[in-house]
Amino acid sequence: MLQRLISRKLHDEHVAIIDLLGRFARALERLGAGPPAADDATWRVLLPQVGTALEYEITQHFDLEETQLFARLHERGEGELAELLFEDHEVIRGVTRPLLGLVAQAQAGTLEAAGWRTLKALGLELADRLGSHAEKEQGALVPLVDEMLDEATDLELWTQYTS
Ligand SMILES: [Fe+2]
Ligand SMILES: [Fe+2]
Repeated sequence: MLQRLISRKLHDEHVAIIDLLGRFARALERLGAGPPAADDATWRVLLPQVGTALEYEITQHFDLEETQLFARLHERGEGELAELLFEDHEVIRGVTRPLLGLVAQAQAGTLEAAGWRTLKALGLELADRLGSHAEKEQGALVPLVDEMLDEATDLELWTQYTS
């Protein structure tokens, strides 16, 4: 049972992104050679969800971990874990940025068949990388954060993060 607001928040965000990535990957696997129909209900819902969630993930969520939490891991002698997770972030940002461009074009209805094939390849790669990263953090980072933050720091970080 997690005791701190920030560890619970991270936990909930990890669960949500893992769920979304799973739905995204399954829809990508079902995709044929061409784009889905313009009125395809699954993609009409999924594209804006993926766009918004990934934008948030690589900015707010990653920034919180990098600026507030990884530094505290270093102080606790868990620098190796912090470095590993940071390297994951760099790779994930590198895949997410071009993917977000394609998702925006797909939403606007301007993405051609070749673009959809790239979206499928990048999307599946991201689902794999970010999915395992979030799982890794659920196992290694979240319990440590829960343990290392005192109540006052927790409240301060949470207030900053959610305001
Ligand atoms: Fe992370
Ligand atoms: Fe995370």
